[in-house]
Amino acid sequence: MREYYPLLLGGGIIGAISIVLIIAYASIKDKKQAIGFDRNMKDSEIIKRLLAYAKPYVWNFVLVGIIVLAGIAYDIISPYIVGKVTGLIKTDFELPQLYRLVAIYAGILIVSMVCTYAQAIILQKTGQRIISHMREDLFTHIESLSHEQMNSIPVGKLVTRVTNDTNAISMMFTALLVNLVKNVFIIVGVLCAMLALNKELTLMVLCFVPFIVLFTVIFRKFARRAYRRVKDRTTDINTYLSENLSGIKITQIFNREAEKQRDFSEKSRGLGKAKREQILVFGIFRPLVYMLYISSVLALFYLGGKGYLDGTSFLGQTIEAATIVSFYMYINKFFNPIQNLAEQFNWLQSAFASAEKVFSIMDIEPKLQDAPDAIELDEVRGEIEFKDVWFSYIPGEWVLKGVSFRVNPGDTVAFVGPTGSGKTTILSLICRNYEFQKGEILIDGIDIRKIKAASLRRHFGQMLQDVFLFSGTIRSNILLDKDGVSDEEVMEACRYVNADHFINRLENGLDEVVRERGNNFSAGQRQLLSFARTIIHKPEVMILDEATANIDTETEVLIQDSLEKMMNIGTMLIVAHRLSTIQHADNIIVLSKGEIVEQGTHQELLKDQNGKYHALYMLQFEKEKQRMGE
Ligand SMILES: Nc1ncnc2c1ncn2[C@@H]1O[C@H](COP(=O)(O)OP(=O)(O)OP(=O)(O)O)[C@@H](O)[C@H]1O
Ligand SMILES: [Mg+2]
Repeated sequence: MREYYPLLLGGGIIGAISIVLIIAYASIKDKKQAIGFDRNMKDSEIIKRLLAYAKPYVWNFVLVGIIVLAGIAYDIISPYIVGKVTGLIKTDFELPQLYRLVAIYAGILIVSMVCTYAQAIILQKTGQRIISHMREDLFTHIESLSHEQMNSIPVGKLVTRVTNDTNAISMMFTALLVNLVKNVFIIVGVLCAMLALNKELTLMVLCFVPFIVLFTVIFRKFARRAYRRVKDRTTDINTYLSENLSGIKITQIFNREAEKQRDFSEKSRGLGKAKREQILVFGIFRPLVYMLYISSVLALFYLGGKGYLDGTSFLGQTIEAATIVSFYMYINKFFNPIQNLAEQFNWLQSAFASAEKVFSIMDIEPKLQDAPDAIELDEVRGEIEFKDVWFSYIPGEWVLKGVSFRVNPGDTVAFVGPTGSGKTTILSLICRNYEFQKGEILIDGIDIRKIKAASLRRHFGQMLQDVFLFSGTIRSNILLDKDGVSDEEVMEACRYVNADHFINRLENGLDEVVRERGNNFSAGQRQLLSFARTIIHKPEVMILDEATANIDTETEVLIQDSLEKMMNIGTMLIVAHRLSTIQHADNIIVLSKGEIVEQGTHQELLKDQNGKYHALYMLQFEKEKQRMGE
């Protein structure tokens, strides 16, 4: 009995630690749900959809499977050979025998290395292809969402989906799945090898398995919680940073640097704390698991050594020195994959969560879909009619209340009215950026809901209120990837809208670099570029939402002049903030709170001394006089 004391003592310590850990684990279990991401999709559905992406590469995976099987031969055979060598050395061995064993060992090692290399290459290639597909699908899908849907999803979230989440999934294809399979095979293989060598010692090793599993599972829970905290804090800091970097000019203008610094320090310290917690978890658990491994090795040496010295046998097998050496190596090869498996299931879960997030974006039905019988518009005359159109962004809050008007082909119609009266909204409806709820909008007598959105937009040039320039060059911003246009034509368009003056002054002309959002150009210059962009796409109907930004007098004259020219191209709908711009419009529609209150030409509207237009005009006239007087 006495000879088993050390074992009993070891078992007791392990048991006590296990109980402490189980209690700790139970105490965090309840909180876990509150932190995580709620999964709604079934695992089986996620797997099905992921497999659909992997299907074209099925043979690559089969090939990798075969390579993996060849690769694990090293893990299973090498301990046996090392044991054999030990056995040889003990007896009076012959050198050729040793050479043979070393040669076999080296051979298996090389095969295993080549296999690992080949497996990594094939998997990386395949995984990256699968993920590119997925990323592209996701991007195409996001592009199909309507303005309204885009308004409701934060851009940062979409960026995370396309980058981080697809990355997590790619890891699953490149490393996770194969390693899962590999580890299972290694566990089974090593177990069989151990059983063949010595059943008694195998039983001893198996006694430790429940503890290893238990420790690892508990460690995983703590590690996952710590990991999630770090991730949350990182997201926190990133969001704060991106918003505040874009708004840093405002911070400086209002002297708010100190306050912002304080907020940032707080977040930064939060991240630091989370990281420390994470390190602590690893610091406690890793040595614990390692201690278990060491305990099993000690037990092996104790029991094995004793068995060897006493020459006792169990189940008919005697223990040799070689057996102990082989087992020493097998234990390592056996416990490692068990630990890895637990961690890999964890990764698999987070890959599934990422997949679900990606798929849930892909599942958003594009709101604006062409009706099955939607027609293609070949030519547009430019007749537009609104018939009692009602529209709201938020259900119940009507922004347009029964708007009706008519635009004849080639006419210029202007919308004026106070801010928030619905001018931009009317223009958005014509190009189906949003779907209206009631009434009818007709283009050349055809209901716009019966026209394919893409074909509609081809004939309409929209110049939005806030001009967006992409980073690139002036040329790329005017063309927006339109092919087959010569520089001469681009310059001609620029001349037409008076953008040539400032472009010619630039050092690189059309090749001048446009920085993010075009922040190296003035508001007026951006507006002129957006005119050129529209003209080059030769629309039949032009829609212009004039920027409110103050523009220098010189540029204002240029804009005015180019607008007058553009009015002659085709039908034009324009929202103007300077009434001087629209004096020659064929019809001016005055809006107030989503309703049309007056309409007519400049002269007609001015006749009514009590009218809104008259009031607006007088207001601007007074301002203008004041400015001239200064
Ligand atoms: N995406 C949106 N979601 C919810 N409400 C919106 C949205 N866009 C505009 N609105 C609301 O609709 C109303 C009309 O806005 P709209 O942009 O058409 O005004 P506007 O006449 O163009 O004003 P401005 O002269 O300032 O450009 C406003 O009250 C605004 O608050
Ligand atoms: Mg507007």
